[in-house]
Amino acid sequence: MLRPDSINEICAEVCQISRQVGAFILNEQEKLTEFDVESKGHNDFVTYVDKAAEEHLVAELIRLIPDAGFITEEATIAREDKEFIWIIDPIDGTTNFIHGLPLFCISIALMHQGKIILGVVYEISNDECFHAVEGGKAYLNQKEIRVSSRNLLKDSLLVTGFPYKDEIKLERWMKLFVDLLKKSHGVRRLGSAAIDLAYVACGRFEAFYEYGLSPWDVAAGTFIVQQAGGQVSDYSGGNDYIFGKELLAGNGLMNEELRGVILEHIFDQRNQ
Ligand code: IPD
Ligand code: CA
Ligand code: CA
Repeated sequence: MLRPDSINEICAEVCQISRQVGAFILNEQEKLTEFDVESKGHNDFVTYVDKAAEEHLVAELIRLIPDAGFITEEATIAREDKEFIWIIDPIDGTTNFIHGLPLFCISIALMHQGKIILGVVYEISNDECFHAVEGGKAYLNQKEIRVSSRNLLKDSLLVTGFPYKDEIKLERWMKLFVDLLKKSHGVRRLGSAAIDLAYVACGRFEAFYEYGLSPWDVAAGTFIVQQAGGQVSDYSGGNDYIFGKELLAGNGLMNEELRGVILEHIFDQRNQ
C-alpha cells in the first residue's frame, strides 16, 4: 500500500501530467480534419490524438509506479494483472472533440487490489482538474468540493448518456428520459461520462445515470463523487458499477427515488 503522503504526491503529479497531455490534445484539436477520424463501431470514434495522448499518459504513469498494470480505452499497453492498476481514458468525449466542441477530458483512476484509491478528471478547455484520493476529500483545482444539497427530484438538474448501440434499449431509455424531464428541472447530455460525474461531485448536477459505460469512463469520476459526499450504485443498489455497465451517481438525497424510476423503465430489459 502507498503511504498517505505518497498518494497525495502521486495525485499532484497525475494532475500535472494531465495538464501537459491536455495542452497537446487541445493544440491538436485545431488541426484535426474529418480524415483523422477512424470508426471503431457505430458512433464509436478514435483519432491519432486519442492514441498519442494515451501513450504519453502511460509513459508518465509508469514512471510514478513502475510495476503498475493498465486498463486503457485504446489498449496501447497490455499489462493488467498487477497490485496497482491505472484505468485510463485519454479523451472522454471523443465525439465532442472531433466536432470542435470544448467538452472533453482526461480520466485517470488508480485501483489497488480491486479498490479505487485515486481519481483525476481533467476538463481541458476549462482547465478544471477534479481530483480525490482515498481517505481525503474531493477537490476542483485546489478548492474542496461537495455534492449539492438539493433533496427534491422536482428541483434537480440531471445528466445522462444514451445507449445508442442497441435500438431496443435506446427506445426504453428515451421513455425514461421523458419521464425524468417532467419530474425535474431538466436532463442534460454533455457527451462525456467523466465530466458528468465530476459535475455531480461539485454540485452542478444532482445525479447522473447511464447504461453501457466502460471502466475507463467511470472509475475516476465515481470515486470523486463518493469522496465529495455522494453515492454511487448499479441499478440493483449494489457496487457493480465500474465493470457492470449500470451506473447511477448522485448527491445521495434522491438516489433511491431515481433508482426506482430507472427500474420501472428498464425492468423488462433486464429480463431479456
Ligand atoms: C463516451 C462518453 C459518452 C458516453 C459514451 C462513452 P468516449 O466515451 O463518455 O458520454 O455516452 O458511452 O463511450 O468514446 O468519448 O471516450
Ligand atoms: Ca470514454
Ligand atoms: Ca475515449
